[in-house]
Amino acid sequence: MTDLLLLPGDGIGPEVTAQVRRVAEALTPDLQIEERLFGGISFDTHGLPLTEDTLAAAKASRAVLMGAVGGPQWASAPRDKRPEAGLLNLRSGMEVFANLRPALCFQPLADASSLKRELVEGLDLMIVRELTGGVYFGQPRFIEDLPGGGRRAVDTQVYTTAEIERVARVAFELARGRRNKVHSAEKSNVMETGLLWREVVTDLHRRDYADVELEHILADNAAMQIVKNPKQFDVMVTDNLFGDILSDAAAQLTGSLGMLPSAALGLAGKPGLYEPIHGSAPDIAGQNLANPLAAILSFEMALRWSLDNAAAADHLLASVIKALDGGARTRDLGGQLTTVQMGDAVLAAL
Ligand code: NAD
Ligand code: IPM
Ligand code: MN
Repeated sequence: MTDLLLLPGDGIGPEVTAQVRRVAEALTPDLQIEERLFGGISFDTHGLPLTEDTLAAAKASRAVLMGAVGGPQWASAPRDKRPEAGLLNLRSGMEVFANLRPALCFQPLADASSLKRELVEGLDLMIVRELTGGVYFGQPRFIEDLPGGGRRAVDTQVYTTAEIERVARVAFELARGRRNKVHSAEKSNVMETGLLWREVVTDLHRRDYADVELEHILADNAAMQIVKNPKQFDVMVTDNLFGDILSDAAAQLTGSLGMLPSAALGLAGKPGLYEPIHGSAPDIAGQNLANPLAAILSFEMALRWSLDNAAAADHLLASVIKALDGGARTRDLGGQLTTVQMGDAVLAAL
C-alpha cells in the first residue's frame, strides 16, 4: 500500500512538493511514496485533470499530498475539465468534508505579516472549512443565453443538516483540545443556508457540546474581525466559500500565503488530503522562488492526522521553526532564499 501519494500538479506545485519529497525521504525513509500527474498537466497528457486511476490510487493510499493546480494556460479548457474541477472531484471523491486550515504565527515571523506585530504574535487560529458541499457543488449550475439578448448565470448554494452537523462536530472536537471556543460564521441574515447552518450548529452545541463556548458571527463581520483582532479566535467553522476567502485573509496574518498548510479529513480510517492553501502562483512559477513551507507543513499535518507519526510531525514542526529562527526566509517573507535553499534549511535543522 502506498503511504503517501504525491500530486505535484501545476505551476509552483512541482517545485514545492519536490521539497516535501526531500524532507520525507530524510525524516521517514520507510514511507512508501508514489507520484502521479494531476491538474493541468494531467489534462494535457490524459485529457482529464483527474483520471479514474489517480482517484483510485488516492483512495487506496494512506494520505494524499498535492501541490497546486491551475494556471492561465487552461483558462479555455472545457469547464468540467479545468484543473480546478479536478481538485473538486478529488475532494468529493475522497469524501474529505472537513478542511483544517491552521493560521499559526511562528514567533520568528511576527514581523513578516503586513499587520502589526502585537496583533499577530502568538496567533493560533484554526479555520474549519466545509469542503465537499455548498455553492462549489450545488446543482443546478449553468450559464444560459437569454431570448432577448444577454446571458444568465446560476450557482446553487445548498446544505443539508447532515453536512452541517458533521463539519461542526469536527470543529467542536478540535476546540476541546485547544482553547475550547468555536465561532460559527455564516450569513443567516440573508441566506437560507446560513439560517439552517446557525440552527444546526446551535442544536448540536446544546445536545453534545454545551461545555464548549460557541459564538455565532456573520461572515462579513468575521472578515473584519480577522484583521482587527485575530487572537480573539480559537476555532472558526464556516462553509466552503466563506472558508476559502477567510483562510486566504488569515494566511496573511502568518506572514505569507506560502505559510498556510491544510488537512482535509473525512471519516475515520479514510485517507486525508493535504494541500497548501495557496495556488499555482503563475507569476513566480518555474523560478525557484516559491516558499515551500506551506507544502512542508502540509506533510507535517499528514504525519499527524493520517500517517500515525506524531513524533515525526513534532520533529518536523520544530525543525521548520528552527530554520525560521536561524533567519531562513524566502522572498515572500522578505528574504532571499530560493525554494531549494529553504528546503536545505529545513533539512539542516532536521
Ligand atoms: P495563488 O495562491 O496562486 O497566488 C496568489 C499570490 O500569492 C501570488 O502573488 C503568488 O505569487 C503568491 N504566492 C502563492 N503561493 C506562494 C508561495 N508558496 N510562495 C510565495 N508566494 C506565493 O492565487 P491566484 O494567483 O489567485 O491563482 C493562480 C492559480 O492557482 C489559479 O488557476 C487558481 O485557480 C489556482 N489555485 C489553486 C489552488 C490549489 O491548487 N489548491 C489554490 C488557489 C488557487
Ligand atoms: C483553495 C483553492 C481552491 C478552492 C480552488 C483552486 C478550487 O482556492 O484550495 O483554497 O477554491 O477551494
Ligand atoms: Mn483558496
